[in-house]
Amino acid sequence: HEEFTKVKNVDKIELGRYELETWYFSPLPPEYNNCKCLYFAEYDLAFFKTRDEMIRHLRKCKLQHPPGDEIYRNNTSRNLTSEQVDGKKEKQYCQNLCYLAKLFLDHKTLYYDVDLFLFYVLCENDERGSHIVGYFSKEKCSEEGYNLACILTLPSYQRKGYGKFLIAMSYELSKIEGKVGTPERPLSDLGNVSYRGYWTRELLKVLQVREGSVSIKELSDITAIKTDDIISTLQHLNLIQYQKGQHVICAAPSVIDRTLKAAGSPGLEVDPSKIVWTPYS
Ligand code: COA
Ligand code: NA
Repeated sequence: HEEFTKVKNVDKIELGRYELETWYFSPLPPEYNNCKCLYFAEYDLAFFKTRDEMIRHLRKCKLQHPPGDEIYRNNTSRNLTSEQVDGKKEKQYCQNLCYLAKLFLDHKTLYYDVDLFLFYVLCENDERGSHIVGYFSKEKCSEEGYNLACILTLPSYQRKGYGKFLIAMSYELSKIEGKVGTPERPLSDLGNVSYRGYWTRELLKVLQVREGSVSIKELSDITAIKTDDIISTLQHLNLIQYQKGQHVICAAPSVIDRTLKAAGSPGLEVDPSKIVWTPYS
């Protein structure tokens, strides 16, 4: 695609109390090209070429959180909420979110046909409102079994466990749907490390407590992780062998413990009991 090779068209953005250097090109409407700075209104993500315009807009804008349905609230850890925003009902917001996200996403084809997607926006909350931290998008109906299309933690919030939270949430939603899921490919390098870590921890946690043998299919049923991803993860960890035409998991308890420790922290965990959600239909 042509846009992958295009040079950065915006140097930096302001969003809430953060100023962020952008990473990549975003196919913004032409009048926003070659901006030194784009000013995003924090709650509806409308963007402007000057701070004055943005502030004028904020005065009129009553919104203090993403325009969706809250599906998660956890007041015990960093006061987090997740909202589901429907691309068809909130087209403008979701398009703004895609323009913003593309500034930090490289090799993803972003779908500006937002109608077909749901957006799960993660926010930190305080007395002023809900401050966007990151999001993931998900096709309303994925024939390929994708449970996540794009994932982003805004740079100001990266490396604090939010990516792990977003990935975990995508799988918790798949569990509620009673389906297995997998992220859309290609994954970025950072996406790949984050997924690899999540899969490793989730699979080894099951293997750690299970007595006797467990099949790939059982692991998939428990974790909602697609069998291909299970096999590649266990192969990567050297915990699987191909014997007599089938995959056999070979993992001594001491090896599991050691590998689990090496897989890093689970970051911010999702408390499944706090999810209030019904699958899209
Ligand atoms: N350098 C090295 N490792 C990194 C890293 C970095 N800058 N950022 C994340 N990681 C790895 C680490 O292993 C980290 O775990 P650790 O902190 O316990 O070591 C793990 O990824 C996940 O960290 P976490 O804090 O949960 O992730 P995050 O909130 O920073 O979000 C992404 C991860 C991928 C969502 C984020 O990097 C991002 O938005 N990147 C840009 C967009 C993108 O590439 N999306 C994926 C497209 S498929
Ligand atoms: Na996922």
